[in-house]
Amino acid sequence: MKIPPVKGTRDFYPPEMARRNWIIDGWKSVSIRNGFEEYDGPIFEHLMMYQIKSGQEIVEQLFSFQDRGGRDLAIRPEITPTLARMVNQQINSLPRPIKWFSVPRLCRAERPQKGRLREFFQWNIDIIGIDSPEADAEVIFTSLDYLRMVGLTSRDVRAKISSRKLLACVLRGIGVEEGKFDGMYALLDKKAKLPADTFEAMLAEQVPDKEQARRISDFLALNSAGEIERVVPLNDEIRAAVEQMQSVFATLELMGVAEYCVFDPAIVRGLAYYTGVVFEIHDIVGELRAICGGGRYDNLLRDFGGPAIPATGMGMGDCVLEILLHQKGLLDSQVPPRRLEYFVACADAACAKAMYSVAARLRAAGHSANFSYKLGGLSKQLKEASSQNAARCVIIGQEYLDRQELVIKDMLSGEQTQVHVNQLLPEPGGTT
Ligand code: HAM
Repeated sequence: MKIPPVKGTRDFYPPEMARRNWIIDGWKSVSIRNGFEEYDGPIFEHLMMYQIKSGQEIVEQLFSFQDRGGRDLAIRPEITPTLARMVNQQINSLPRPIKWFSVPRLCRAERPQKGRLREFFQWNIDIIGIDSPEADAEVIFTSLDYLRMVGLTSRDVRAKISSRKLLACVLRGIGVEEGKFDGMYALLDKKAKLPADTFEAMLAEQVPDKEQARRISDFLALNSAGEIERVVPLNDEIRAAVEQMQSVFATLELMGVAEYCVFDPAIVRGLAYYTGVVFEIHDIVGELRAICGGGRYDNLLRDFGGPAIPATGMGMGDCVLEILLHQKGLLDSQVPPRRLEYFVACADAACAKAMYSVAARLRAAGHSANFSYKLGGLSKQLKEASSQNAARCVIIGQEYLDRQELVIKDMLSGEQTQVHVNQLLPEPGGTT
């Protein structure tokens, strides 16, 4: 019986692995050029880590288990709680600001669908210790920096930006009870996935006052934070939240990515810990789930027993990204093919021993080198070299046994040159 992979998981055969590595290498290089340092944590944590502040949706999607000591544990569905725990542990010795990135493998028991699996990779960048809109802008910029690098333009993706703080003051200003805010956030988070009339009906259920509901709908239709006066009279709290939002957009403009960014008041994010600026990046057609999402979470470190330290960050999964890149023809054209520097072949069986030693010396000198296990004819070996995309073939024949000379064939031009082995390789134990 052949056993299939578990529902919602993927096998990475070499071609899939090459794509995955290319995506992750890109995430890492963009993190580094934006000044982030890499960290990681364990793949499982105490179950309560995710019950503290991640929100009901994540709790329902946990892969949880008890270890032999009776401890309740869960495989990480996100790394932000781990980050909060780790930073809290060394809070007094870490130089600030903390600008860290990570690419954890995560598990969520979601219903598998296009762009959502039960196991995936997620690029995380977080800035801890800075309470300014410029840090929020930098997180958004860095996400866009990656998407731009892989060839996505402002005709392909859009960063939709809003603020939970702004939403909270607007709801307060409209007169919605504070106790209803969490329900409102959950409803708004689903808005894009619901038909308009279903959303209106659900809004009416949560906010029975027709005038209040109308003003919420008006707020959701605003194109910029500056227009907020149309929905609710300004007060100090609202003014401050609007200014913050405007500073984020001004910084993104200075950083040259304004054309990718819009204000979208319906963005609230599903996770419970966000407190300020929130954003998601979507494909422009809107047919896929979010490519990434994040925002400010100023209370999470305190909720994990540490001091109140502001923080902002984002997570980008590999699944939607891969689908979008594939749709745009930007995936296989950019993933580097398998490459081999040398394929060592032997012209006759008498040279086989030399083949192993030359291949080993090439490898020791830092080159990639392969050879055939089947000592068939030379043309078969050359075919194998081509199928492995070898740049050059080193052919060992009688002249090697006589004079230690070998032939180097350039696989692209077909040009052949005969050289002494020492011209190709440093002498064993030598320094060249
Ligand atoms: P999240 O919105 O839960 O946020 O996930 C962020 C991104 O991870 C999504 O936009 C999507 O690309 C990817 N993702 C989430 N679930 C799945 C899934 N089941 N399959 C494939 N991809 C998925 C967070 O996780 C926050 N911790 C991000 C963050 C970091 N906020 C601040 N710092």
